[in-house]
Amino acid sequence: MDLIHEGKVKRLYQDPDSDEHVIIEFTDLVTAGDGEKKEEIKGKGQLACDTNSLLLKYLQDKGIPTHLTKELDGPRFRARKLDVFKLEIVCRNRPTGSFCKRYGEPQFDAFSHPLVEFFLKDDSLGDPFISKEAVTRLGIAKPEEMGIIKSLTLSVNYYLTELLAQVDLVLIDFKLEFGRTEKGQILLADEISGDTMRVWGQEGDSLDKDVFRQDKGNIIEAYSKLLRFLKETNPDQVNTRPEQLSVFVLPKEGIKNPPGEVTKKAMKRLGFGQVNDVRVGKIFQIEIDCPVTSEIVKELDMMGLKLLSNPIAEKREVRFG
Ligand code: TMP
Ligand code: ASP
Repeated sequence: MDLIHEGKVKRLYQDPDSDEHVIIEFTDLVTAGDGEKKEEIKGKGQLACDTNSLLLKYLQDKGIPTHLTKELDGPRFRARKLDVFKLEIVCRNRPTGSFCKRYGEPQFDAFSHPLVEFFLKDDSLGDPFISKEAVTRLGIAKPEEMGIIKSLTLSVNYYLTELLAQVDLVLIDFKLEFGRTEKGQILLADEISGDTMRVWGQEGDSLDKDVFRQDKGNIIEAYSKLLRFLKETNPDQVNTRPEQLSVFVLPKEGIKNPPGEVTKKAMKRLGFGQVNDVRVGKIFQIEIDCPVTSEIVKELDMMGLKLLSNPIAEKREVRFG
């Protein structure tokens, strides 16, 4: 097989049977601190691979599109070939790790709702924190793609949290990567395993790479325990999470908007002299019973075109997240 890319702990090969697929292979390497700490630990690759396959299949069943297409023998799986965004998306339920290094230890144990952060995936720059605006200005992802990525990340957080809770494990945080197919479909990429998330047991014991980062014990024991617990879960008992989207419909520039003019006059009459222009549109608040994928956004835009707006006189925007 032709090697396409060698990462810190995984290798990417061209699938000999399909141009559109790759074979991803886990090695036994464990790294931390941008590769500063590095060790080969026998059996780690297979454990990470098995954990990843179990979780990606579970998420796929819940409607989150992922790159995994087939499990293979050994520490390998077949995946859709993607143009992976140069981003690491971190979702945190509790403040720890680099969050506390940056901002100090907060007074509370858990965030009131999950925090999503973006990092530029560039080892030579040390994977720096990056704002959503900088991501779009640099052309790494479009605003709509960022919306889908954030929404899918929150869905992943919900589904992983609920699954782990069944076996009394707590999801502290995790890192995701996403990519797009030639047709623009956004898929969850890379891996989810003890290497890429923090999971605590009831006593605050780590079942993840913190065991290695902080020399807290045996990583094989921790990863085996995590996988054993995951195999005891019942994915069917995790309820579907409803998602909210809105379709905003506004009159196009240059198109007369009588309701806006009436409102403007009324505002002036009531003493709000600063008003220059008012445009009145409508908002459709929509709840769906599946994650917000690129397909869903496209379908909803079609709905907007056919049903919710007049495409000649009005512009539409789908908002979510
Ligand atoms: P952090 O607290 O170091 O930013 O890590 C947050 C989560 O992201 C944690 O579960 C570990 C994971 N992570 C990776 O998978 N790869 C990385 O390169 C980094 C920095 C974190
Ligand atoms: N994944 C990064 C590394 O391999 C950092 C980390 O997870 O601590 O160096």
